[in-house]
Amino acid sequence: MHSAIESCLRPLGQVNRIGILGITPELVGMAWPKNTELLAFDHSELMIRDVWQPNPDVSCHVSLSNWQSLPLETHSLDCLIGDNSMGALPSLSEYKLVFAELLRVLKPSGKLCLRCFIAPEHSEPVDKVFKDVMAKRIKNFHVLKLKLAITLSKYPTYSVFVKDIHALFDITFPNRVELSKLTGWDLDVINTIDAYRGSETIYTFPTLDALKEVASPWFAIESISTPDYELGDRCPTLTFCPNKKPRLK
Ligand SMILES: C[S@@+](CC[C@H](N)C(=O)[O-])C[C@H]1O[C@@H](n2cnc3c(N)ncnc32)[C@H](O)[C@@H]1O
Repeated sequence: MHSAIESCLRPLGQVNRIGILGITPELVGMAWPKNTELLAFDHSELMIRDVWQPNPDVSCHVSLSNWQSLPLETHSLDCLIGDNSMGALPSLSEYKLVFAELLRVLKPSGKLCLRCFIAPEHSEPVDKVFKDVMAKRIKNFHVLKLKLAITLSKYPTYSVFVKDIHALFDITFPNRVELSKLTGWDLDVINTIDAYRGSETIYTFPTLDALKEVASPWFAIESISTPDYELGDRCPTLTFCPNKKPRLK
């Protein structure tokens, strides 16, 4: 994220106004230059109460608000960042409302830098994921969670009910103790999947082409940075720049 936003940081003496879509502590807590003003936006009172941790080194505010309608002046931010923010939206039609609003609040020279969870063009079958677990090719339980979620993402909506990720896990791996023994994953970590049980939340996992297409009236992808950690190819940080002739909301 640091290298993605570097080019839009302003010199000391001018203020960097950075918006964060969500309150991800790792983004708020980055080593920001002193001349930064961080403005975080999240629509969940509960998340703000339980997870919000202001960065003591810079000016920092959180606002209870929707990304579809931000409490900001037009062209007021130098940069907007987020960790899987688009993936937390339930449908591609919501993406359109959010992209239009992000374009409005960003300065024309601004950048939108988002880590995105991306589905592959050819989806991986669940049995392949199962075999990879059995062969100990998946090192981290959260990677398994994400892989299972992505198997459920389908053209043209790419929407995934969070409760279906839980159900798919339970059917595929009915014996958690055995799974824990085989993989070395702590049972407490495996049981974090239960946070998904019965959840009405919907996530989206579009392919890169689908994401490009839905953003295209407002933003173009300028660069893609792919991390080298496990499953990094599905979690690139994309830098979007505003289109010169955007379509209005
Ligand atoms: C930034 S996302 C992703 C967080 C985490 N990094 C991940 O990968 O799962 C999660 C946050 O987005 C917030 N959120 C989802 N849709 C939103 C919207 N339309 N407007 C404001 N906040 C929203 C949720 O309340 C939640 O706190």
